[in-house]
Amino acid sequence: MIRDPSLVCDYFRSFSLPGQDGQTTLIPKGKTVCDNVHVMGVNYPRYTNEFWTARQRQASKIQEISYRACFKPQLPRFFITLLTEPGDIVYDPFSGRGTTPVEAALLGRRIIANDINPLSRILAEPRLNPPELEEVKTRLYSVSDLPSVTCDIDLSMFYHPETLRTICSLRKYLTSRVEDNTADMTDRWIRMVATNRLSGHSPGFFSVYTLPPNQAVSPDRQIIINRDRNQQPPYRDVREIILKKSRLLIRGIEPNQMEQLKEAGQSALFLTQDARYTPQIPDNWVTLTVTSPPFLDIVQYASDNWLRCWFNDLNAEDIGKNITMTRKLADWEAVMQDTFKELYRITKPGGYVAFEVGEVRNGSVRLDEHVIPLGISSGFSCVAIIINQQDFTKTANIWGVNNMKGGTNSNRIVLFHKKTDN
Ligand SMILES: C[S@@+](CC[C@H](N)C(=O)[O-])C[C@H]1O[C@@H](n2cnc3c(N)ncnc32)[C@H](O)[C@@H]1O
Repeated sequence: MIRDPSLVCDYFRSFSLPGQDGQTTLIPKGKTVCDNVHVMGVNYPRYTNEFWTARQRQASKIQEISYRACFKPQLPRFFITLLTEPGDIVYDPFSGRGTTPVEAALLGRRIIANDINPLSRILAEPRLNPPELEEVKTRLYSVSDLPSVTCDIDLSMFYHPETLRTICSLRKYLTSRVEDNTADMTDRWIRMVATNRLSGHSPGFFSVYTLPPNQAVSPDRQIIINRDRNQQPPYRDVREIILKKSRLLIRGIEPNQMEQLKEAGQSALFLTQDARYTPQIPDNWVTLTVTSPPFLDIVQYASDNWLRCWFNDLNAEDIGKNITMTRKLADWEAVMQDTFKELYRITKPGGYVAFEVGEVRNGSVRLDEHVIPLGISSGFSCVAIIINQQDFTKTANIWGVNNMKGGTNSNRIVLFHKKTDN
């Protein structure tokens, strides 16, 4: 763990990527490309290298939950190990599937997670408290298929009638447990896995061949897909699919990691709010924020998520209205400005914010450079821009510096620091 911003920069400059064994160097030491970004009359350092990679070390299987625009677990892991120590608080105000909180928990940190989308908590929280597989099995088989269960809408184009009966019985059971406040972690786990298995392209999902549940197609569109593919929904064993996915998620978690997940789960704070207003988080509280905000585009939330929201008894239209969607840069900056003010309030003196903005509009808008003034006017200092570049074949272009456009695999992170003497 490094606390001092100048030492953090030294680390980026002399970075070399360890291999699986922690020994082999894939990029010779010192190959970080260092240049400067000129923003509002000031030069800020920019470091480009393969700081983390999917090949380097496989992420934990517990992270394998699909979510739109999620980042790889290696990204938060890099910053969490560099800038915090066990017991520190790690936060993500736009938590999505919960990549940052789950990674922080695996590393023995305490966590706070927020996302205005209630599906975020549904997907993240149960993974901090994985139940025993036997408990999941017993619970699943204790919920019987109701002979006359209805499901409000016609879903026959997605599911075999028997599969649909099980899905609707399970949904009814889970909804009533949530309403009565009796849902325990086993119920929440089943809900999380089922939400993820609702639709997809393989027999590992409940549905006939279709798109994944975060891009669910409409019933009308599915009728056309079925006709074009000459397919009918086959029977799927919902309980066995949930058990199989549960096994895959839990596989490989070491006993000490399981303990750390559970410990983090006990003290975790989950919020479902606008990131600009989180009064539950005390001032000067968070050591590190690792986050990726909604990008500069319009997401069709309600149409993409209608199936997952239906299963969880959530109103997709209402949720969609609250999600930040901005096409204009100035509108996006206004929302992020207020988010930075809130982040400054809750960040501990000496703490950091790693703000990932990815590639937008084919690199024609450099959001990283637009983010710097927002952080600075909120009180932070900007330590550096870090670009993780994973594609070796493109490095010649990238390192020629004038062509950043092709790097679809790159992550752009602006790192901010809150001074200790404030
Ligand atoms: C790019 S995604 C983050 C993905 C996340 N890093 C992950 O790995 O899953 C942005 C998230 O911001 C959430 N969001 C959008 N507007 C928000 C707001 N005003 N306040 C809080 N969360 C918001 C969305 O629901 C979405 O989950």
